[in-house]
Amino acid sequence: MTTTTHDTQPTTPTRTIPFGRPLIDQAEKDAVLRVLDGPILTHGPLVKQFEADFAAFTGAEHAVATSSCAAALHLACLALGIGRGDEVLVSAQTHVATAHAVELVGAECVFVDSEPRTGNIDPDLIEPALTERTKAIALVHYLGFAADMDRIMPIAERHRLAVIEDCAIALGTTTGGKHVGLIGDAGCFSFYPVKAMTTGEGGMLITRRDDVARAASQYRAFGIDRNVVAERPIPGMYDVQMLGLNYRLNEIGAALGIEQLKKLPEFLRIRRRNFNALAAGLAGIEGIQVLGADEPVETAGCYCLVAMLDDALRDRRIDLIEALKTRGVGTSIYYPRPVPRMTYYRDKYDTRDDDTPVAARISDASLALPVGPHVCPEDVDYMITAVAAAVEEVRKV
Ligand SMILES: Cc1ncc(COP(=O)(O)O)c(C=O)c1O
Repeated sequence: MTTTTHDTQPTTPTRTIPFGRPLIDQAEKDAVLRVLDGPILTHGPLVKQFEADFAAFTGAEHAVATSSCAAALHLACLALGIGRGDEVLVSAQTHVATAHAVELVGAECVFVDSEPRTGNIDPDLIEPALTERTKAIALVHYLGFAADMDRIMPIAERHRLAVIEDCAIALGTTTGGKHVGLIGDAGCFSFYPVKAMTTGEGGMLITRRDDVARAASQYRAFGIDRNVVAERPIPGMYDVQMLGLNYRLNEIGAALGIEQLKKLPEFLRIRRRNFNALAAGLAGIEGIQVLGADEPVETAGCYCLVAMLDDALRDRRIDLIEALKTRGVGTSIYYPRPVPRMTYYRDKYDTRDDDTPVAARISDASLALPVGPHVCPEDVDYMITAVAAAVEEVRKV
């Protein structure tokens, strides 16, 4: 039997398109093997090089490599002196890591709803949420579309608030000519396997502030006052002045990261191409609207494409996901619930479903589709046909 790229028969999927897949080739393998062949697995030169390369890519004054983005967010809160008694405004529509960082330093989250165009924090809702205890804003650049920093930063400055940018899914996103993460006080990135680039697990904190970089580096390594290689001529001699953690990235991750970063411009070019083509193709399908469709794609990281479903499709979302899975199309949901509806936060803050209705609508009525560099133009065509067929199928029942 001959099959075509447009064949989306559920029983014989002609393609398998996972939601995310890291692209690792010989360069990464060689780099990792060079580390394993040598004597230095941690505290080595590759982490330093990766930090320098990442700083050069983003234009950051400082870059501090970490074991994850969650670790970087926690370090950002510690380095900015956020703690018990403080309140932090947090995007309702984000990964729990943004809010967990605030909770881990003993501060309290005040969740702020999204604006419906992109799902990013709604600047109009920031000032009404402030109290005399508000110390910072921790916002996400959702899906790789920049939050409205032109409106948010003047509010932050007026009220002397620190701004933490969760850029986990916004590597490659710029706004006003600056990479996200450098507009506020600290920006945190993730190198988890399905992200724009990977180190296995890993993260990075960037900042324009010397004091934040210094404190984050120290908290990253137990609070030790000296760098192992450069500042400890006599091994084992150091002091500890603060309650730090071990959030370091190792040399293996850094070796991977250095190679992945070289490919990042090409990865981003493909993401943007795929996003544009997929958005254009889905525009013709009734009941589906692309979140952020009017945003400038050339300055966005394009982490994935979030399709908003009309009410009838929303009620059949599980069937739609299954129908796409049968056709070989991987999907995800970003994020399955607004953070205030996650049980830990619901129990702690007694939140209600209608507290953050826009975020709730995104969580309840959306479907995320892949646009990563593992997706080729034929895959995009296939996905458009598969979505149209799956929609038709679930509407019939
Ligand atoms: C917005 C956001 N922040 C933080 C994280 C956590 O990243 P990591 O797994 O590197 O800790 C994620 C992970 O998906 C995320 O989407």
